[in-house]
Amino acid sequence: MPAKVVVGVQWGDEGKGKIIDILSSRADVVVRSQGGNNAGHTVESGGEIYKLRLIPSGILYKNTYCAIGCGVVLDPGSILKEISELKQRKVSFDRFFIDPRVHVVMPWHLLLDDAAEKFRGKYNIGTTKRGIGPCYMDKSERSGIRMFDLINPEIFRSKAKIVGNFKNNLLAKVYGEKPLDIERIICEYIEYGKQLKPFVKDVSVKVYEEYCKGKEILFEGAQGTLLDLDVGTYPFVTSSNPISGGVCTGTGIGPTMIDEVIGVAKAYSTRVGQGPFPTEIFGQTSEFIRKKGDEFGTNTGRARRVGWFDSVIARHAVRTNGLTSLAINKLDTLSGIEKLKVCSSYQTKDGKIIYDFPCSFEELEDLTPIYEELPGFDEDIGQCRNYSDLPEACRKYISRLENLCKCRINMIGVGPARSQNIER
Ligand code: GDP
Ligand code: IMO
Ligand code: MG
Repeated sequence: MPAKVVVGVQWGDEGKGKIIDILSSRADVVVRSQGGNNAGHTVESGGEIYKLRLIPSGILYKNTYCAIGCGVVLDPGSILKEISELKQRKVSFDRFFIDPRVHVVMPWHLLLDDAAEKFRGKYNIGTTKRGIGPCYMDKSERSGIRMFDLINPEIFRSKAKIVGNFKNNLLAKVYGEKPLDIERIICEYIEYGKQLKPFVKDVSVKVYEEYCKGKEILFEGAQGTLLDLDVGTYPFVTSSNPISGGVCTGTGIGPTMIDEVIGVAKAYSTRVGQGPFPTEIFGQTSEFIRKKGDEFGTNTGRARRVGWFDSVIARHAVRTNGLTSLAINKLDTLSGIEKLKVCSSYQTKDGKIIYDFPCSFEELEDLTPIYEELPGFDEDIGQCRNYSDLPEACRKYISRLENLCKCRINMIGVGPARSQNIER
């Protein structure tokens, strides 16, 4: 049975949640491997809308195991709220696990995220302010607090005291912020630990057990390739590895177990937060797409920046993730635009053509995207279920993307609902 990875091709919000939900109907285990509640995955099913932050999008299927792997950073208050909201909507958590190695987002991480953004001033990253960067910093620096600690009150108390006092010094002496009441935090978090304890289980062991039984495993990516700490638009990235390689370290499985990597992209591009965006557009067309595509962050409500599809970025994602196929969402949003543009390459000031995504934003500033223009379409494609149902202009658009990306497009999204998907 295959283990499949689903990753974001662009800057996140490509509709990974929807694709995971569709694929979950055939999966036995769905696992998150990185990121935290900076993610916002929207799933529409049976007329209901679910906005998931930390819980894998497979949770809506009651026979599917859902797990949070060791590479995730977890805000206990946030996940308990998410669990409680979903339970109220009759979602079952009988088959839900959290790895004991998961790092815990503490209140000082949230404050330090905010303080660091203020400190960066006009060079701010535009983080989600969920404490993600500071939590991963502590993990790398080896002073992080893990789920294992959280569910063992004595261990937690001694670690949280030392780290908390250090963070208070940092907050007060470097950032001029008020210190936190560490004792109050310790008591609050011990309570969270009690509530989360029943879910804690070694995810690497569980996933491997299921894999060896021949069960289908689905790894749910958060964020996207261009937000990857190593191959993304550094420093305007998140602090984890959303590319497929991150799945191995983030769940404790080996690369030989993965046999499919599906990249999810929008039929255009969006980005929320700061940083380079070569094909960004402004004015009437961008307003049209933002409004029609409801391009406002699931998590923070911020308006997403909008641009044309960039095949330089898509090829970067095909290579860095080893994509075996692409899913292109939101094709329906482009209906009503007379001419569609697709970026095929970039050009330097002295006329050199660049096909591969450069490593620095300083280099990107000097590049201009080269566009191909394709005919647009006016039809409402929300009811199309077969590739042949799509208007000719749509098929030409998809076929051109496929050629430019050098990757097969196997799924096409024509609306937000689970059913609004074309499989080829
Ligand atoms: P994720 O973070 O990658 O899971 O994506 P988000 O959920 O943050 O954002 C994608 C948005 O697009 C959500 O509101 C989805 O319901 C919606 N969506 C997904 N696929 C399609 C599609 O094919 N057409 C339209 N119109 N909306 C879609
Ligand atoms: P999903 O899983 C879109 C962006 C933030 C910011 C940068 C760093 O829904 O696709 P962070 O809080 O992670 O330190 O912020 O990354 N970002 C996302 N953008 N979708 C996401 O997740 C994102 N998660 C983080 O806006 O630019
Ligand atoms: Mg999202």
